[in-house]
Amino acid sequence: MKPTVNTLFAITTVLILSFTSAGITAEKDNPDPAREQRLQWWREARFGMFMHWGIYAVPAGEWKGVEKQKDLWGEWIMERAQIPVSEYEPIAKVFNPVKLNAAEWAKIIRQSGMKYLVITAKHCDGFAMFKSAASRYNIVDATPFAKDPMAELAAALPKDGLRLGFYYSHCWDWHEPDALGHDNRWDFPDRSKKQVERYLRGKSMPQVKELVNQYHPSVIWFDVPSDITRDQSAEFVNIIRSVVPDCIINDRVGNGLGDYGTPEQYIPRRAPARDFEVCMTLNGHWGFDRNDHQWKSADQVIAMLAEIAGKGGNFLLNVGPTAEGLIPEPAQKILREVGQWLEANGESIYGTQAGPLPECPWGWCTVKPGKVYLHILQWPSNCRLFVPGLKNNVRSAHLLSQPANDLKTERVGDRNWLVQIPAQAPDVRDSVLVLDVDGKPEADRTLTLDPLSSVTTRLGCWLAEIHGKGTKIKNLSLETRNNDHIQSWTNSQDWLEWSFCTPLPATYDVKIVYSATGKSVGNEFVFKIGEKEITGSVQDTGGVNNFKEITISRIAVPKTENSTISIKPKSIAGGSSLMQFHALTFCPVTDQSKK
Ligand code: GLC
Repeated sequence: MKPTVNTLFAITTVLILSFTSAGITAEKDNPDPAREQRLQWWREARFGMFMHWGIYAVPAGEWKGVEKQKDLWGEWIMERAQIPVSEYEPIAKVFNPVKLNAAEWAKIIRQSGMKYLVITAKHCDGFAMFKSAASRYNIVDATPFAKDPMAELAAALPKDGLRLGFYYSHCWDWHEPDALGHDNRWDFPDRSKKQVERYLRGKSMPQVKELVNQYHPSVIWFDVPSDITRDQSAEFVNIIRSVVPDCIINDRVGNGLGDYGTPEQYIPRRAPARDFEVCMTLNGHWGFDRNDHQWKSADQVIAMLAEIAGKGGNFLLNVGPTAEGLIPEPAQKILREVGQWLEANGESIYGTQAGPLPECPWGWCTVKPGKVYLHILQWPSNCRLFVPGLKNNVRSAHLLSQPANDLKTERVGDRNWLVQIPAQAPDVRDSVLVLDVDGKPEADRTLTLDPLSSVTTRLGCWLAEIHGKGTKIKNLSLETRNNDHIQSWTNSQDWLEWSFCTPLPATYDVKIVYSATGKSVGNEFVFKIGEKEITGSVQDTGGVNNFKEITISRIAVPKTENSTISIKPKSIAGGSSLMQFHALTFCPVTDQSKK
């Protein structure tokens, strides 16, 4: 399969993230005080706006009737439609965002509960959205607008308490004959003539210098660092820090440099070891696309924000303004709703750290000294919230929205708590429950089966220890998270194991979630919990992308401090995968549901 640009980006991102792992350990063991200092505001901010804005907002996803290719238009239109520079450049002559009102943008960002903006100063099309002496191909010199929106934003944002950062594509540039990486091969096909160094020194580095000198940004957000050497990456860092010593730089500056990781369009299943910022589109495109109406809902955004904060990261959520300079109305509406939620619940997001609990079936957890915030996305219907692993003494509990109403708590075993909660969720999107605890919140991360409430515990493939020689088994799909699964499970020696505990004996309905079709149908697996074994036969789910939840059995699980659950293949038909395994689920059988 020819990799799409999206997969290339995903691969690059994964490479960037793994490349820096040595640096991560160093960061953790031996934190650099300057880095800690510059990241302080950013870690507290947790939520920022990404903006892809450029002259591509004029075609807005349509070019001479060329059929639209999914997800790659917007800011990619020049590359996707292979538009020659001679035809793309004139778009600047009609780019005139007269409705731009920087103060209004600042207000929208603030009211969304976001604390900073990262805006494209120059995307891969090479057009600078700021006044630049290094290239006349910029908004002041090449458009009828003839003004500098970055200067307007740099003046307006601080008045609303907001910080400004710039996206800058330092390697890819389809306007320039010398840029490499994902380069312009339709105008400049002869790669042997391309001199990256000439591009870097002639445009990219001088423009980054202009950005820091002209606007003193808080963040420089680079994109794909293809082809550049460690020295070149380091030079970008020096250019920035020699002018703005506290400027934060993302990992895509390249070569293991940079302050934080940038997972794109997905939330890592496990909390990364280093600072990270998930970037994501609010609809399906980064740059404005007039035909894209697939907006994420405010509920989804709130749930993602809780999850990302619960893992200790930031959320950089993208909108693409129009060619007139307006933030699309549907985006504003969604963001206003998110902002209202944050207005009431911001205490549980801003300035918090990752929660210490094991993955919980009801939602996510963030902490501050003496406080544990439980983000309940799935409200237990039996008025009981089971909090696994928490070692601290809980002094009191209340819903963030109902501070006067103390909720009853009790310890279950030595490191779990049960909270009596109202029958109805006060906010179905995310109700935040606050535990006041003695000391710094601490927990045991062992997966814990919840014996008391009515929500289903899920043991995802991402939480399993993978045994065996097969390397392919480790590939998890990043695309559709509800379909994350173990791939190519062809080796019958490979198996999955979860360590778990549970403080009380209870009975569960145990199910397995997978997809399977063709030759995989009829493969056999052994599910084992403690000493109990059950053999299952793989069923046809009607397609590889069709994941189904299939009952294994109703099982009584005794109280246990430390036991294991496993799935092992028993027979795999030649040339097939055991199944595409997603998760096991444990639904406690309450007295009510038994009847
Ligand atoms: C994607 C897009 C690119 C965008 C980037 C942000 O890779 O293709 O245009 O700038 O995401 O991370």
